[in-house]
Parts: sequence; structure tokens; C-alpha cells
Amino acid sequence: MRPAIVYHSRQGHNKALAMALTEEFQGRGIDAAMIQITARRQIGMVRALIRAILGRPARLEQKPNLVEYNPIVVCSPIWAGHLTPEFLGFVKSMDRAEGKKFYSLHCCFGDTAGTLGRASELLQQKGAEVLGAGYITTSDLLERGKLPPFVKGVVDVCIDRTA
Ligand SMILES: Cc1cc2nc3c(=O)[nH]c(=O)nc-3n(C[C@H](O)[C@H](O)[C@H](O)COP(=O)(O)O)c2cc1C
Repeated sequence: MRPAIVYHSRQGHNKALAMALTEEFQGRGIDAAMIQITARRQIGMVRALIRAILGRPARLEQKPNLVEYNPIVVCSPIWAGHLTPEFLGFVKSMDRAEGKKFYSLHCCFGDTAGTLGRASELLQQKGAEVLGAGYITTSDLLERGKLPPFVKGVVDVCIDRTA
């Protein structure tokens, strides 16, 4: 099945991570799809942050159709130690995900609090298998040399575990 890279990005870092993952799959002859998650209503950073802290999922512009994809890598920021409303909205909007394999990633400052575990827990509640959860810091993303081994490691796991 075709892999999908689902991403939410406000300032572009998680989009860059999603693009690097897509290119890594492509480099191995695998045509991964990039799917952006966007909220139906665009709100300012402060309101979005408050919603993240309160754990309120965003209503999405479009519910991603994941039927033809597996594995699915999700890239999203961390805000004040919380998952973003878009990430929460994505998981909420998902149908049951038995048989789907997810990898949950965050490009952030490196202060993940309990978010990695929380993201895995939410995905597992939908019946998904979680291949892994991790993060790369914004400075490592921008530093030449740190991003390629990171994306290579993630794609290795995705390929090995869905073969
Ligand atoms: C309001 C705000 C709060 C943030 N809180 C955290 C945090 O708690 N932990 C962390 O590691 N990064 C935190 N960050 C950093 C973001 O996760 C990081 O800049 C991320 O790469 C942004 O993703 P984007 O460029 O794809 O939108 C925060 C950023 C903002 C703007």
C-alpha cells in the first residue's frame, strides 16, 4: 500500500519534515502522498494555543481519506507541552484504524512533555498500531546533516514493519 505523510504546520517546520520524509520514500522508489491537515476556521496563534492547552480538537476543512494508505506518518508541532488542535481533530475525524500503522512525529523545540505518549495513546484508541513516536528539534531540522539520518531511520522502520 502507498504510504501517506499527514502534516500540520503553522510556521513550516513540520511541512519541511513531511517533505523530507516524502523525498526519502521517493528515493527508494515509493510514491508517498503528502496530505496537509488544516482547520476549517483559521484562528490566531494565541487562541490556537489556548485550544491546544484545553485539548480541543479543530474541525478540519476536509477529513483525510486514508483508505488507500499504509503506513501513515503524522508530523505536527508541540505547543506548550500539548498536541495541536489540528492533530487532535485529525485523530478525532479518523474512522477506526485497525490494520493501519502510524508513526507519530513532531518537529519542535525538544520539550515534548507527555505528548509523544499521548499521541500514541490517541492513535491506539482508534485501533491503529503505532510503529513509533519521536521528535526532531527545529535546530536539528535546519542543521545540515541531522535531518537525513532522522528521516532515514523513520522510513526504515515504516518499510520493515509494513513489508
Ligand atoms: C506558542 C508556542 C508554544 C510552543 N511550545 C513548545 C513546547 O512546549 N515544546 C516544544 O518542544 N516546542 C514548542 N514550541 C515550538 C514548536 O513546536 C516548533 O517551533 C515547531 O517546529 C513549529 O512547527 P511548524 O513550524 O510546523 O508550525 C512552541 C511554539 C509556539 C509558537
